Amino acid sequence: MLAELPSALIAEVERAAELLKTKQRICLLTGAGISAESGIPTFRDKQTGLWENYSAEDLATPDAFSRDPKLVWSWYQWRRQLVASKKPNPAHTALAQWQYNSQLTNQHLTLITQNVDDLHEQAGSDVIHLHGNLWRNLCSRCQIPHTTQLKGHYDREDNIDFDEALITCQHCDGYIRPDIVWFGESLPVHEWHTAEEAAANCDVFISIGTSSLVYPAAGLAQLAKHNGAKIIEINPYPTPNTLVDITLAAKAGVILPELVKKMGIL
Ligand code: OAD
Repeated sequence: MLAELPSALIAEVERAAELLKTKQRICLLTGAGISAESGIPTFRDKQTGLWENYSAEDLATPDAFSRDPKLVWSWYQWRRQLVASKKPNPAHTALAQWQYNSQLTNQHLTLITQNVDDLHEQAGSDVIHLHGNLWRNLCSRCQIPHTTQLKGHYDREDNIDFDEALITCQHCDGYIRPDIVWFGESLPVHEWHTAEEAAANCDVFISIGTSSLVYPAAGLAQLAKHNGAKIIEINPYPTPNTLVDITLAAKAGVILPELVKKMGIL
């Protein structure tokens, strides 16, 4: 696969691998781009079908849910249906293999994701979710987790209830919503603290498949750089980011398997 890439890019992958082989603490932040090759559209992709006239930014907000809970719930049920059958791609698998391998070496990997899918987990990774989990619900009023919905997800796709009808909380009668961090909401405290610690103390920070537009997650690379880390970006359309030391401008599913192979892991 690597042979098909421009020689300048191959040289950059080798440079990244050499750097990573000598470093101990690695912090990785993934975004929607890592799941793109699994068939999950990114946030900045135009939506399709019934939802083509809506943007994700207009639906993923507490205001949108207060205004029209049925609309927002229907959109998430549609997204769940879209994501349910998707499988990890070679990028997820390469990261899981690297993380597994790191237990045998003296490297310490912290994998952080902005994604609400579970493809990292399906590939075998231990991952910190900054923006919540598509397969969990909670009450929009009392915040108590709602567990009766979606519990079949890990068994069989057929068991998932994709009904678009709103459901209400058995404790307070509030509407049930997805357990996802919407625009304007705070990130989960423990997850954010762990991510900040990992970014502030890493030797190398790798940003994979993210437009780096949404804060505070986008600030993790700055925090790492400020504390002396090298920054690597993997994105076919690199962001206009002056922090980056090594840019690997191709798909994550192409670059990551080659990167870990060059590090002697695969
Ligand atoms: P975006 O949709 O903003 O950006 C996806 C990035 O992935 C873009 O920079 C693409 O160039 C890149 N990309 C596309 N295909 C790729 C591939 N095969 N390999 C590598 N990169 C690829 O998604 P995020 O940055 O994840 O927040 O968005 C951040 C947050 O904004 C999301 O978590 C979500 C959103 O709206 C909330 O819902 C709170």
